[in-house]
Amino acid sequence: MAGASFASLAHRAARREASVTVEKQVDGPAPLTIHHLGDQVLRQPAQRVPRVDHNIRQLCRDMLRSMYSAQGIGLAATQVGVHQQVLVIDLDRETPSTPPLVLINPEITAYGASVDSQEEGCLSIPGVYLNVVRPTVVEVKFVDELGRKQRRKADGLLGRCIQHEMDHLNGILFVDRVQDMEALQQELHHHGFIPSAVHAVA
Ligand code: NI
Repeated sequence: MAGASFASLAHRAARREASVTVEKQVDGPAPLTIHHLGDQVLRQPAQRVPRVDHNIRQLCRDMLRSMYSAQGIGLAATQVGVHQQVLVIDLDRETPSTPPLVLINPEITAYGASVDSQEEGCLSIPGVYLNVVRPTVVEVKFVDELGRKQRRKADGLLGRCIQHEMDHLNGILFVDRVQDMEALQQELHHHGFIPSAVHAVA
């Protein structure tokens, strides 16, 4: 206790409580079950988070552990059956010290003019990888794990990942956006998913 005032101990405890960072190397089973394509849970839209509190931060930690355990780079609360607008993303899983990105109540405020087609996969559709056309740049506003308002421009993999995860919060899966129907049918069949589970978006 020497040298540390009660105030600074309390401050440190508060900071620890506020951090959502978890070990990236997950041993043992994931804390949450990730639902798969065909499960209606994935089609239910998420509600806005009224207040960022310790329950939300615990959800973020459990989502991160589940995401790392499944070798994913992004996870939406919808995928673990929690219908709240919470996303976790980590494009740098290999570096233990890089903090993950938490987006609560995300809203896209602007889309860039250009689009591109890149391959996507999803922890809810294991094994299936297909090309999806999306805007290359988005501007997104959200609240972070400390309840602070944030705004950022995202392109490349991050921009794509944010759009993919935000789709989950609206009950949309990336296969709903695939344009190459032949490739879609083949991939779904090959990995044991039924085509009628896809709800094509215009
Ligand atoms: Ni996904």
